[in-house]
Amino acid sequence: MRILITGSNGLLGQKIVKLCLERGLNFVATSKGENRNPDCPSINYLSMDISNSQEINKIFQFYYPTHVIHTAAITNVDYCEDHIEECQVVNVEATRLLFEASKHYKSHFQLLSTDFVFDGEKGNYEETDEVGPLSVYAKSKVDGEKILINDEFKDWSIVRTIIVYGEGHNLSRSNIVLWGIEALQSGKELTIVDDQFRAPTWADDLAWACVEVVLRNKTGIYHIAGPEIMSVIDLVYRIADHFGYSKNQIKAIHSNTLNQAAKRPPKTGFNLQKAYREIDYRPHTLEQTLDLLKK
Ligand SMILES: NC(=O)c1ccc[n+]([C@@H]2O[C@H](COP(=O)([O-])OP(=O)(O)OC[C@H]3O[C@@H](n4cnc5c(N)ncnc54)[C@H](OP(=O)(O)O)[C@@H]3O)[C@@H](O)[C@H]2O)c1
Repeated sequence: MRILITGSNGLLGQKIVKLCLERGLNFVATSKGENRNPDCPSINYLSMDISNSQEINKIFQFYYPTHVIHTAAITNVDYCEDHIEECQVVNVEATRLLFEASKHYKSHFQLLSTDFVFDGEKGNYEETDEVGPLSVYAKSKVDGEKILINDEFKDWSIVRTIIVYGEGHNLSRSNIVLWGIEALQSGKELTIVDDQFRAPTWADDLAWACVEVVLRNKTGIYHIAGPEIMSVIDLVYRIADHFGYSKNQIKAIHSNTLNQAAKRPPKTGFNLQKAYREIDYRPHTLEQTLDLLKK
């Protein structure tokens, strides 16, 4: 087994690298530019811009991956709204290039996707539920998924997930839990939406699930998230409780007062039965992960 990881400088990519090292799996980690993950040995790292077909081909020719875990993407939802073409190139066309290379080399192809593929009216989504993207980012992820779903080559998996959190090195963006801890600690006022519901996902649990899908030769769509659906403001309240910060500094607001470029689905969250059943997924509770962050 030879695993090619894209986006290894990102939060999830770093956790997958960590897991591969712990399990002694053969892997090559790739990201655009320098390796920013000090835990990733330089011998395992190659620079690869996923929008560059020559770079992709060179690495496939060199490494002959049996499996590709494709985490790289433009993940800033509001940025995508204002950079439609760039989002299309990186999230859709680059996925096509990587999938075509995987087909050529008969490698399993795993694509990371999102709860934002849904419109957020129903919540607790199953893998078979119909998609209804509300933003440019969400549409780009749906289009990426369709490249796989509509192809005759069926050795692929799609792992959809929901606000991913945890610690990483030199990340280009933070995540809600780390941001919440820092903001609460600083004592400043936090305005948090009380009308969006999510199941926050511990990055290490997600990495475990991505690798497990690959190791068990599973194909198709998998919903992987935290075990509990909660409002975003409840998430921040629970962080405050856990770390002993005052909740008085947290102010509730509605999404429509935020003026964010991209529209967000009000209520997501996943039904995790398939993951429980097929890969023995057992995610940590929020409080367990906050304990781990405390340490
Ligand atoms: N984070 C979430 O809450 C969340 C929720 C649902 C789904 N997902 C999906 O899960 C996956 C992993 O998310 P994440 O949290 O690990 O995201 P992340 O921390 O933003 O990592 C994504 C990585 O992709 C890299 N990248 C961007 N453009 C690239 C290119 N042209 N070539 C090579 N690498 C490129 C970025 O590089 P730089 O670091 O240099 O910018 C970054 O390291 C993504 O596909 C995302 O859509 C994430």
